Amino acid sequence: MRIVQIDPKKIPPAAMAEAVETLRAGKLVAFPTETVYGLGADALNAEAVTRIFQAKGRPATNPVIVHLSDPSELDRVAQDLPRCVAPLAKAFWPGPLTLVVPKNASLPDVVTAGGPTVAVRIPKHPVALALLHEAKIPIAAPSANRSTQLSPTRAEHVVRQLGDRVDLVLDGGPTSGGIESTVLDVTVSPPRLLRPGLVTCEQIEAIVGPIGFGEDLADTRQPARSPGQMDRHYAPRTPLIVCTQSRVKIDELTRAGLTVGWVTFETSPPQGVVLRTMPSDAEGYASRLYDVLHDLDQLHLDRIVVEAPPRDPRWLALHDRLKRASALPSST
Ligand code: TXA
Ligand code: MG
Repeated sequence: MRIVQIDPKKIPPAAMAEAVETLRAGKLVAFPTETVYGLGADALNAEAVTRIFQAKGRPATNPVIVHLSDPSELDRVAQDLPRCVAPLAKAFWPGPLTLVVPKNASLPDVVTAGGPTVAVRIPKHPVALALLHEAKIPIAAPSANRSTQLSPTRAEHVVRQLGDRVDLVLDGGPTSGGIESTVLDVTVSPPRLLRPGLVTCEQIEAIVGPIGFGEDLADTRQPARSPGQMDRHYAPRTPLIVCTQSRVKIDELTRAGLTVGWVTFETSPPQGVVLRTMPSDAEGYASRLYDVLHDLDQLHLDRIVVEAPPRDPRWLALHDRLKRASALPSST
């Protein structure tokens, strides 16, 4: 594995050329997006995409996102675009919104886990965009972590989890968004939320009108299921508990002699507790969350306790990620 440092404000042509050559050779390149780091391969090369699944230990039933440089590239992987794609693309691309659309025949089945649809987005990060423009190929890229673990917001997170399973890592510094893109299925009417993310439901509904949510949970605005998506996902190795009035929990755990990391809005910790004070706005919180969890996970604590964020639509994606991070490992 090679790591190349890149200043996003001054992208060195030699590094880009190396990345393009690596992708064209069917190998894997990890790169920063505005959300999290992606593990990229040539989306039109089935063997290369198969390597992504192997590197991540990802079940073949979980389809990956295809990244494009421009909406004019949609025809290379998709067809019969629903009418709402154009206004959504205009409003949010480049940016953290992923749209599920009908796939076309030239896109290998491995990308979509054999399904008839493909998830596409145009990322906003200068390094991701430069790579897409230079390579002139659609890039299949899930988050650059091992399956079910925390998504990487820094190059060192990628290196720690994937090591030599990735050929080249473009280190463009920490990502700004901090959690994954919103995934919206536009093959159904009304469009349906599959994963809450940095683009909020309110922002989407301002463009396309009311959207749909998970069937059984419509009134709680929970996302519908994506194929292959597991409950436990985005999880640190340290057991994580989310609760309100978490100071009570902290006291209970420390009295029992456990070492604890506390992710909260408070600024003074009880003695012996590792404190991480979070921003009180949802965007600021998102940009810090995984970074803080990666960091606490390195300390080999007994527990991570997270103070539940406010119940407010702007915090939907964060509640989703925290729920998944705290889900117990399933036995299947
Ligand atoms: O922010 C992001 O979206 C990052 C960066 C790298 O772009 N990527 C990312 O990819 O989070 P990944 O593979 O970790 O998550 C993709 C999500 C999964 O929940 C997957 O099930 C869903 O999108 N998905 C992909 N293709 C789909 C499809 N055809 N239909 C429904 N869901 C799909
Ligand atoms: Mg992922």
